[in-house]
Amino acid sequence: MTDDGFRFVHLTDTHIMAGGTWRIRGSDVEFDTDASLRRVVEVVRALDPPPAFAVLGGDLASPDILHRERTLTAAEYAPSYARLKEILAGLPCRAHYMMGNHDNLEALNRALRPEMPVTTPCYYGFDHTGVHFVALDSHEPGHADGALDAAQLAWLERDLVAHRDAPTIAFVHHHPWPIGHAWLDTMPLRNGAELMGILGRHGQVRWIIGGHVHTEQVIQREALTLLTTPSTCIQLSKTAGETHFDPGPPGFRVVDVRDGRLSSYVVYVR
Ligand SMILES: [Fe+2]
Ligand SMILES: [Fe+2]
Repeated sequence: MTDDGFRFVHLTDTHIMAGGTWRIRGSDVEFDTDASLRRVVEVVRALDPPPAFAVLGGDLASPDILHRERTLTAAEYAPSYARLKEILAGLPCRAHYMMGNHDNLEALNRALRPEMPVTTPCYYGFDHTGVHFVALDSHEPGHADGALDAAQLAWLERDLVAHRDAPTIAFVHHHPWPIGHAWLDTMPLRNGAELMGILGRHGQVRWIIGGHVHTEQVIQREALTLLTTPSTCIQLSKTAGETHFDPGPPGFRVVDVRDGRLSSYVVYVR
């Protein structure tokens, strides 16, 4: 890679839940999401060249999975974010954090964005070596599917106008297009068409990268490349039936950027 190139990693759906493991529905399998993320971090540490930064794509902490009967408080989420922070301290680079449907904004901000007031929405843009990045927040409290509210869409429009000359990559947790899986397509980004309309009007947006679906997918739509990244823990089951997920293998995405062009690959940790 030449001096003007860089790489980043997209880690998503880490699902840290302090005090428990993920009992995979329809099976007796207990999956340790801490252990799988630690293995992923070790592999990221060994990447050569190293990543300039990591994007954490949402569903970062999910103690709610251990208590499906009620809504947890921010204080009850705190131990899971503390555990996540401790594990991610092993990354060789800084991290940008995003919300997923399982996350809690106040607890995430307290642990991972302590410089922000705790109610600050978790959407923002940032730049690296001439490339612009947009991280969106599709979380809606109490919902498994997602949406981007009017204020966020208006901000996105302004942000893209202000960065019209920079190749741009957008991140969003929920999938804005159907992925062709009956169960997951019941919980997409509900106003995905609206988002795709905005991105389509700004030709500098080259890629959109999502999580949530715990599987890898690549779709080309004209100039836009749509990708999903597998989870750092369990993956979408490829077999039909009651079981929605299979244990592992943990995965993540590496994206190389050079001369405004991007390439990426998924790494599975076996
Ligand atoms: Fe997830
Ligand atoms: Fe999700």
